[in-house]
Amino acid sequence: MASISRTRLASLMDRETRRFTAERPKSRALFERARASLLGGVPMNWMVRWSGPFPLFVKEAQGAHFTDVDGHRYLDLCLGDTGAMTGHSPQAVAEAVAVQVRHGVTFMLPTEDSVWVGEELQRRFGLPYWQIAMTATDANRFAIRLARGITGRRLVLVFNGCYHGTVDETFVALKDGATVPKKSSFGPPVDPALTTRAVEFNDIEALRRALEPADVACVLAEPAMTNVGIILPAPGYHEALRDITRRTSTLLIIDETHTICAGPGGYTAAHRLEPDMLTIGKPIAGGVPAAAYGVSRDLADRAAAGIRVEDSDVSGIGGTLSGNALALAAMRATLEHVLTPRFYETTIPLAERFAAGVEAVIRSAGLPWHVVRLGNRAEYQFRPTPPKNGSEAEAAMDLDLDRFLHLYCLNRGILMTPFHNMALIAPDTLPEDIDRHTRVFAEAVNELLV
Ligand SMILES: Cc1ncc(COP(=O)(O)O)c(C=O)c1O
Repeated sequence: MASISRTRLASLMDRETRRFTAERPKSRALFERARASLLGGVPMNWMVRWSGPFPLFVKEAQGAHFTDVDGHRYLDLCLGDTGAMTGHSPQAVAEAVAVQVRHGVTFMLPTEDSVWVGEELQRRFGLPYWQIAMTATDANRFAIRLARGITGRRLVLVFNGCYHGTVDETFVALKDGATVPKKSSFGPPVDPALTTRAVEFNDIEALRRALEPADVACVLAEPAMTNVGIILPAPGYHEALRDITRRTSTLLIIDETHTICAGPGGYTAAHRLEPDMLTIGKPIAGGVPAAAYGVSRDLADRAAAGIRVEDSDVSGIGGTLSGNALALAAMRATLEHVLTPRFYETTIPLAERFAAGVEAVIRSAGLPWHVVRLGNRAEYQFRPTPPKNGSEAEAAMDLDLDRFLHLYCLNRGILMTPFHNMALIAPDTLPEDIDRHTRVFAEAVNELLV
């Protein structure tokens, strides 16, 4: 097996950093200016998490490409880490938003679009009742609250390596069998062991043991993990998850925010899962902030019994801007015209092309890496076989290598998702774009191995 010299990696990183800096004077100047008014020089903390010494400042974007303020054009394989999976500013969404923005943005009253959206979400995901939230984080928070209110139980079960947004209960890791705060968790409000039980994905016995005391309100799960690299469920795992949750009267919440990459009804419809609740955000409104959560008929009845109309503003399951007319117009346009079966027919073959290209480079270089794909999402991981769970996936992470490959791509006009080596395909991504990435990846690997 080939291996990578760390000295060579460090010197290549140095060269690429100098090139990045020299070619982007305007982004650099904006970053310097921003440091005087924005915490860390960015409007949101994650925007510093790119491999160059400063972030790119975007001028404009359309479809699968964007241009930075220095005039460089990029193929966007990050797509806002799924928020722009539809491609940037899809025409149908841009038009719907332009119309609605002139006719009122937010009322705290419903519009007809909300009914259309409710019916469409029902049709796609199989759950009968829906609520709209602003972000997937919100949707998860509200769903957990409902689960607690309905079951009268406090604990939430999540999988080690998960990410479900800034939901305190989910900012946990599994360490020597104990549920502890994630290393990066800033200011956790309480010891997460009080709120959460974490287990490894794909471990049926651990799940059984964790749910057996029948004190867990809900399992919150991505149907395939996507935030610690992609981890696919082992055959039979979802059947076991549903069976154990039902037998212990634990509610099952499936978070489809990323796995909507698997098809128009997400992984849930593609694999006929039967969650009690489903949450989704990010691309559902073509990049306009919006999210949704759906509940089963039984849960809707049980929740209705516990929520009084006069308390609905302080029930903890909504917000004034949630369900606003603009977001719903964008959501309707996205569901009606963009995230359609055709979207998947176009993008999935390109993700397969991405995976095949990268896999061929890895094989011919003799590197102990592999590629994993789910729908129009594909990524390479620095281990020879797919990980079964979060611990295995985390053990294979290599920050230095990650940063180098991202920067190498950036300098050659390709943006990868920053937290791992993931590529998402938009309808406007072209086969030539994919092949260009394969060539750049091959060049990077060759340079590393020289
Ligand atoms: C599976 C999943 N759920 C929820 C979220 C939260 O999304 P947002 O940050 O838009 O609230 C994310 C974000 O990455 C996610 O990956």
